[in-house]
Amino acid sequence: MATLRTDPEQSRRAPNLRSVVVGTGSSLPERVVTNAALAEQMDTSDEWIVQRTGIRQRHIAAADETTSVLGMRAAQSALDDAGLTADDIDLVICATSTPDHTFPATATQIQAALGIHQGAAFDLQAVCAGFVFAVTTADKFLTTGAARRALIVGAETFSRLVDWEDRTTCVLFGDGAGAIVLEAQAAEEGRGVLSTSLRSDGRHREKLYVDGGPGSTGTTGHLRMEGRDVFRFAVGQVTDVIVDAFAQAGMTAEDLDWFVPHQANRRIIEASADKIGIARDKIVLTVDRHGNTSAASIPLALDVARRDGRIKPGDLVMIEAIGGGFSWGAALIRW
Ligand SMILES: CC(C)(COP(=O)(O)OP(=O)(O)OC[C@H]1O[C@@H](n2cnc3c(N)ncnc32)[C@H](O)[C@@H]1OP(=O)(O)O)[C@@H](O)C(=O)NCCC(=O)NCCS
Repeated sequence: MATLRTDPEQSRRAPNLRSVVVGTGSSLPERVVTNAALAEQMDTSDEWIVQRTGIRQRHIAAADETTSVLGMRAAQSALDDAGLTADDIDLVICATSTPDHTFPATATQIQAALGIHQGAAFDLQAVCAGFVFAVTTADKFLTTGAARRALIVGAETFSRLVDWEDRTTCVLFGDGAGAIVLEAQAAEEGRGVLSTSLRSDGRHREKLYVDGGPGSTGTTGHLRMEGRDVFRFAVGQVTDVIVDAFAQAGMTAEDLDWFVPHQANRRIIEASADKIGIARDKIVLTVDRHGNTSAASIPLALDVARRDGRIKPGDLVMIEAIGGGFSWGAALIRW
């Protein structure tokens, strides 16, 4: 049975390892809500939403589709895809800002639901950048030999965090979950996570935050956002981590096969890609179908592009995201 090793000597003994993606999975709530359906409930229009964001529809969770339920389904599908079982996993990280409960960690609920009884499980909170932070964290466990196979889940139910009276934010978000399995493999194979780059700057708190929490109001609160400022920061700043991830790996945008960014807004994605010199036909876009699913958006997009045959073994893939905090990051992966 696999166990999580914390022996400090272990990292020094670990061979040259890389974290290789061996499976992907996803789960979306059944209910689809189009822009036209939203326009029946509030003063908005399909044209306004599509033109500003590229979003055409989003999935909204039913009462029994909690973050852990969506996350568990995505995780099971990633395990199946990898041909692995619960006994093979010794680390579960769930990136989420919409946990079922304040505690225990949603990751532990997913762990239990899947029948994983060894290793560690914890949540990671970096809002929309959570999946990139989780991949980076898991990579440290795997490449030091502290864990062998990690299940990394991004799962969110932002429909429960938005203020449905605020048309400037509620039309942007959706629910869903995605997952990948990362396995420690010999670096000589050339596959795996090649570089990662993370940043945070807490001075931007008021641009994108939730106005409640267990330690302040004792309530869950609602999402608040200065949309224009977030837009400007995202396009102006987030590219630094992409440039850094390329530089660390000695690669450029020319070498890239697929750019899989956080799916918040089509205009932010395209402006960022243009700035870096990433060709538009290398962008994986799912924001039209999913809306902004926060930490779930990248693993959902990865699963879509892998299952439809775009992402293939050996491809060079860049993931990148920015979220509340602000926190932002990128990871370059040889699939
Ligand atoms: C939110 C966003 C789409 C708004 O677009 P914008 O061009 O900045 O629009 P503004 O906020 O300036 O609003 C323009 C007008 O549209 C109106 N408007 C806002 N939401 C609307 C809606 N859902 N439907 C129709 N009109 C709307 C505003 O009231 C405003 O009207 P006014 O000019 O009469 O005052 C855009 O700022 C954005 O995408 N920001 C980034 C958000 C994001 O991706 N966040 C997540 C990061 S993880």
